[in-house]
Amino acid sequence: MAQTRLKLVSGDGAEATSPRRRLIEVDRLTKTYRTRDGDVPSLKPIDLAIREGEFVAVVGPSGCGKSTLLKLMAGLIPPTSGEIRIDGKPVKEPPDDVGIVFQSPVLLAWRTVIRNVMMPVEVRRLDRETHLARARKLIATAGLEGFENKYPWQLSGGMQQRTAICRALVHDPKIVLMDEPFGALDAMTRERMNLELQRIHHETQKTITLITHSIPEAVFLADRVVVMTERPGSIAAIYDVPLGRPRSLEMMGDPAFIALSQKIREHFYAQGHLD
Ligand SMILES: Nc1ncnc2c1ncn2[C@@H]1O[C@H](COP(=O)(O)OP(=O)(O)OP(=O)(O)O)[C@@H](O)[C@H]1O
Ligand SMILES: [Mg+2]
Repeated sequence: MAQTRLKLVSGDGAEATSPRRRLIEVDRLTKTYRTRDGDVPSLKPIDLAIREGEFVAVVGPSGCGKSTLLKLMAGLIPPTSGEIRIDGKPVKEPPDDVGIVFQSPVLLAWRTVIRNVMMPVEVRRLDRETHLARARKLIATAGLEGFENKYPWQLSGGMQQRTAICRALVHDPKIVLMDEPFGALDAMTRERMNLELQRIHHETQKTITLITHSIPEAVFLADRVVVMTERPGSIAAIYDVPLGRPRSLEMMGDPAFIALSQKIREHFYAQGHLD
């Protein structure tokens, strides 16, 4: 998409540029963990529709159920009630078309960078040669060229997380789910990764859901920001981000950026949390 065609969105973020179909539908979804010490209700009924190509950020207090929501979307755990549909099909197991970046990088210590990145290809029994070329390209883009044959313990935390992001993208999934992928990074690396993620989204038009503790990060990257309540989490509000694309870091000083960040922050003050 040419940059000149991008315009300021207003109202419904995704539909302002082009009407897109709903790709992910979260329908009356609840989750209660059953433990030996009793039930832990984690999600109250959640309804959410995410359009193809949309970038949605989710913010909320610690322990409100954000990771739970992402794991449900990834088909890693079953809902207690309600369902999630991707492309109209109920999610019952991890779908092929989804890439996930976990809250910590969870790389396999005995595998090199390239072999960690190739994991989803092996698991899905996809063509090795074409995907190996793709893996190398992703690794280069992530600034990890020359580190293909290193082990996770030979990498910095940021490099490990970038490896995990390459792994989530290697099979070219339509949907990418990210759980605080930049939480452990220093502020400058984090900003670089934000720009990189924006570039990936812009070039590939993937549908991305990002969980973050950073309100500025959510506003900077997303088309819409979902604000969750305390546990059991439900949706307190959904905000369209009224900023054009591509976005530069300077836009964080834009009055619209500051106003929306403040509005989101007020939810946490209201709940007694400084997130
Ligand atoms: N496997 C589990 N068994 C029992 N309870 C769980 C399990 N996983 C999560 N929980 C509980 O569910 C609630 C939501 O957890 P979740 O990890 O989804 O929160 P979160 O919003 O991602 O928090 P954070 O921002 O700290 O990562 C928490 O109270 C947690 O203790
Ligand atoms: Mg979490």
